[in-house]
Amino acid sequence: MQIKMPKNFDHHYDHLLILSQFSLLLLNLLSPSSAAPPPIGICYGRVANNLPPLTVAVDILKANNIKNVRLFNANPATLSSFSNSGISVMIGVPNEILPTLTTSSAAVGWLQSDIFSSIPANQVRYIAVGNEVFLKDPFYTPHVVPAILSLHQALQTLNLSHSIKLSSPQAASVLSISYPPSSASFAPDLKPVLFLLLQFLRDTASPFMVNLYPYFSYLNNRPYVSVDYALFRDPNPVQDGALVYDNLFDASVDAFVSALEREGFGGVEVVVSETGWPTSGGEAASVENALAYNREVVRRAAEGVGTPKKAGEGVEVYLFDLFDENEKGGEEYERHFGIFGPDGLKAYDLGFN
Ligand SMILES: *[C@@H]1O[C@H](CO)[C@@H](O)[C@H](O)[C@H]1NC(C)=O
Repeated sequence: MQIKMPKNFDHHYDHLLILSQFSLLLLNLLSPSSAAPPPIGICYGRVANNLPPLTVAVDILKANNIKNVRLFNANPATLSSFSNSGISVMIGVPNEILPTLTTSSAAVGWLQSDIFSSIPANQVRYIAVGNEVFLKDPFYTPHVVPAILSLHQALQTLNLSHSIKLSSPQAASVLSISYPPSSASFAPDLKPVLFLLLQFLRDTASPFMVNLYPYFSYLNNRPYVSVDYALFRDPNPVQDGALVYDNLFDASVDAFVSALEREGFGGVEVVVSETGWPTSGGEAASVENALAYNREVVRRAAEGVGTPKKAGEGVEVYLFDLFDENEKGGEEYERHFGIFGPDGLKAYDLGFN
């Protein structure tokens, strides 16, 4: 192994470097062949007027050993605060920007001015192109796949298409049938545009992203869905063919796995781009329940538990939300998903490692 060093490089470090490369090699040889646990991230929504300074957010993530964050836009100050922090980012392209990304040169310009001028490319894990567009913001539906294709060409031009993956997080209700999981199917009217997205995801080995909230399923389907089923503690599991489901998270992820298989895209991985539980503001919204939910989601990812259909293949998840967002609209509970208070202290004692 030949390592090039500057002339005046201290021999001491030279040896250290060789030694550390050697131990990396050893580690690789000795580590078991099982897959590494998937990344666990936190969403950092900023629709609030009482957020702590950006550096506090970065310090919180570091102190809790959280290596991935999802940002909903390419705000330069936010991106810069994560620059060289060792934290990987998923960056959202806001829905309103999608119509401007019609050519690869427009996309190169946007990537360079709005992303890579603020954060090194090797910290960017995903670019999330739009959010819940097909169901919640359908005006932009025709722009999603063209923007993805422009950004992909742009990433190819910049030689970054292998390290930065593109996807477009969807609302869970893009499934018109989700129960039982093996019968799940995408809403028929969305299938044409989903098909184009899924072809892209398959061809580029990129994941299907879904924002998944068992809390909402519970709220909308009481009393058929019990809070215990949503909180991983139902004593009465549900049988689905040969598989047994004792919680709604697994059942929901596997519903997507089945729906993807049904359309011929079984090889596309499912990433949960948002999930969480509110601490107040609604039925079953409490600190205890938020802790019970998030703790189990984190444990399953950290231990690579996987779902009944894909046992042992841990699901990559992004918890929602780093802080409460007091300027969000909608139901009261929408403003209470924060895991940390604005003072940087945990709202509840969730561990991450
Ligand atoms: C493109 O990036 C890869 C690493 O992903 C690197 O090995 C290769 O040399 C790069 N090619 C060019 C032309 O810069």
